[in-house]
Amino acid sequence: MSIICDFRENIKNDELKNISKVIKEGGLVVFPTETVYGIGADATNKEAVAKIFEAKGRPQDNPLIVHVDSIKMVKEYTSSINDTEKKLMEMFWPGPLTVILKSNGILPDNVTAGLSTVGIRMPDNNIALEIIKKAGTPIAAPSANVSGRPSGTKLEDIYEELKEKVEVFVNGGNTDIGIESTVVKVDEENVVNILRPGKISKEDIEEIGLKVRLDKHIFEDVKDGEKVESPGMKHRHYAPKTKTILLEYNEDSSIMQDKVREYIDNNSNKKIGIICFSEHEEYYKNMGIKCITISSVNNNLEMSRNIFSYLRKIDKLNIDICIIEGVKKEKIGTAIMNRLIRACEYNIL
Ligand code: TXA
Ligand code: MG
Repeated sequence: MSIICDFRENIKNDELKNISKVIKEGGLVVFPTETVYGIGADATNKEAVAKIFEAKGRPQDNPLIVHVDSIKMVKEYTSSINDTEKKLMEMFWPGPLTVILKSNGILPDNVTAGLSTVGIRMPDNNIALEIIKKAGTPIAAPSANVSGRPSGTKLEDIYEELKEKVEVFVNGGNTDIGIESTVVKVDEENVVNILRPGKISKEDIEEIGLKVRLDKHIFEDVKDGEKVESPGMKHRHYAPKTKTILLEYNEDSSIMQDKVREYIDNNSNKKIGIICFSEHEEYYKNMGIKCITISSVNNNLEMSRNIFSYLRKIDKLNIDICIIEGVKKEKIGTAIMNRLIRACEYNIL
């Protein structure tokens, strides 16, 4: 049976000690970060790491992110960090940025899925940092959810699917950002390639004077046999069982609304719902469809905080089709649209 530690108000020292003991003995701990909850184990312990793959049903070829509490810890597991990588870590850590670095081979090969690189980040969350510090070891942790399901942003959403598989759940309340970290890899020309967009955006990285490129698979599906920079790009993600359709953003909201009206007319035998901005609720309600408001227009931080929890709700709404209003593909909006395109399995309106 698993136990729950409630750290929402404060971190309790005796429980923290117990959590670090579980980690050191090779157990699994679900803990909050500033992005989403992680399901973590001692990154240096191959058997413990194997338990993460088993608990999630995660494909063996998908490497894990290693969480650290210092740059010193990064150096223990990597070889040759260049100036661009160093700058990224100095400017954005602790924070929602995972940097893919050259592994020195000390971490077990199931952490890196046999790659010569390792993804590392320092989370901006005191609970996560205290757990790493107390355990005295880097913690490998993918998002805490069964593979393919939306990532967990609150404990209630993931407890049921993981309760048989984890020793300890640490409750830190709702996570701040709500979508996973930006994953970057610096190439030979010193260009920062964004493999997975997140809160730290292309614009943010350009602002510190670096060249940035968005990987084409952020918005495009991977074709059979095509080579990818990050194994996570190939796998099915976030999709509810209900058919979902992404409505592309337009400055002129009447264009978005006309598309929905036409879609409803062409699918009059289906029960349709929409996840929409509060400002558009009246309009869609008048079309006679179920509306669930997610945020106000252009409040992308509110939207990113809610998105995974809302994707989990869709299957409980008793509808055949769920339309989701999209946002502008800029800053964190790029990350929101990347997750939504996947959740909607590339169905776009
Ligand atoms: O915000 C986050 O990053 C959360 C929290 C818990 O830290 N973690 C997370 O982990 O989202 P996960 O496993 O769900 O996603 C890790 C992503 C995958 O797409 C994986 O393919 C990629 O990072 N990745 C990890 N190591 C890599 C490597 N060496 N090369 C390329 N991609 C890598
Ligand atoms: Mg994940």
